[in-house]
Amino acid sequence: MFKVGNISIEKAILLAPMEDISDVSFRVVCKELGADVVYTEFANAEGLIRKSEKTHKKLEIVEEERPVGIQIYGSGVESMAAAAKIAEEENPDLIDINAGCWVKNVVAHGAGAGLLKDPPFMQKLVKEVVDSVSLPVTVKTRLGIDSDSIQILEVAKRLEDVGVKALTVHCRTRVMGHKGEPDWDWIPRIKQVVNIPVVLNGNVLTPQDVKKAFDETGADGVMIARGAIGNPWIFYEAKQILANGSVTSVVDENLKIKTCLRHLLLAVKIKGEKRAVLEHRKFYSGYLKGLPFAAQVRKELMTVIEFNLVEDILLKYLESLKQEAVETIIN
Ligand SMILES: Cc1cc2nc3c(=O)[nH]c(=O)nc-3n(C[C@H](O)[C@H](O)[C@H](O)COP(=O)(O)O)c2cc1C
Repeated sequence: MFKVGNISIEKAILLAPMEDISDVSFRVVCKELGADVVYTEFANAEGLIRKSEKTHKKLEIVEEERPVGIQIYGSGVESMAAAAKIAEEENPDLIDINAGCWVKNVVAHGAGAGLLKDPPFMQKLVKEVVDSVSLPVTVKTRLGIDSDSIQILEVAKRLEDVGVKALTVHCRTRVMGHKGEPDWDWIPRIKQVVNIPVVLNGNVLTPQDVKKAFDETGADGVMIARGAIGNPWIFYEAKQILANGSVTSVVDENLKIKTCLRHLLLAVKIKGEKRAVLEHRKFYSGYLKGLPFAAQVRKELMTVIEFNLVEDILLKYLESLKQEAVETIIN
């Protein structure tokens, strides 16, 4: 059971924090398609304290996406506590601390997975954050720095001891980055040493993986990152598999194209038309995957910067697919 503050969900399916992906528009779409809990992309503590507009924007949340967690990262005890208070003002449902980012720049400053180098210090930092806010605090981390230094059991206990309300474990080490097989076998072992909810993350790429992850590990939640990019229906399909054992309602071209447009329209409202349309280009290959002539349509979409033109191209494309389906039936 993923029980954190007022949230109480059996077999929770969570959308991962992802920089430049998990913004409000994407989170709302994932929520509408079944994500139980969503997280903002990480916001830098120093940036929040400096009142950087760009960093502060990452804290924006909307009612429709609740429950939502704001994720922060940094390596200073005082700055993280201060950043958590700033995040709390936005009134999310929880605050998440990033202790898993593997990127060199972040780790070099002792933040993200860099915190795993010194579990007692990590515990001190997390305690300060927990003590400085009234919202529940959760942590997202990795197994350890490398395969010779897996300290997740010690880390989990230390974090529970200072009042962390749930732990998400990306079942890889820092040196693995996003490559290699994650080791899900750690999840049941972590659950044996702590009583807080434990969320599995790492290579949950299909709806079937979601069921497998719950069945094999007994995790309280499963967090999806890359598997949701351009594919937010993974939540919708996973929910069906958990309820009925199989996907009973397939995602057709209508849902694919309408979701792509809905995501873009939400982004336009939040970021403005030009930026939203340009940033949406990274999602087309996912949204149109498996549809006929998708490469041609994608190429056309890359040439436009207005929402209306994107809409025109996609709706005409949808009509042509329907027409083709009718012709196939007649012939
Ligand atoms: C584009 C991208 C951005 C990411 N940004 C964040 C982030 O801001 N915070 C975080 O904790 N993890 C971040 N991650 C890591 C993911 O949340 C997740 O832990 C990782 O991708 C493994 O899950 P997956 O195998 O389902 O992709 C990011 C991953 C990707 C691919």
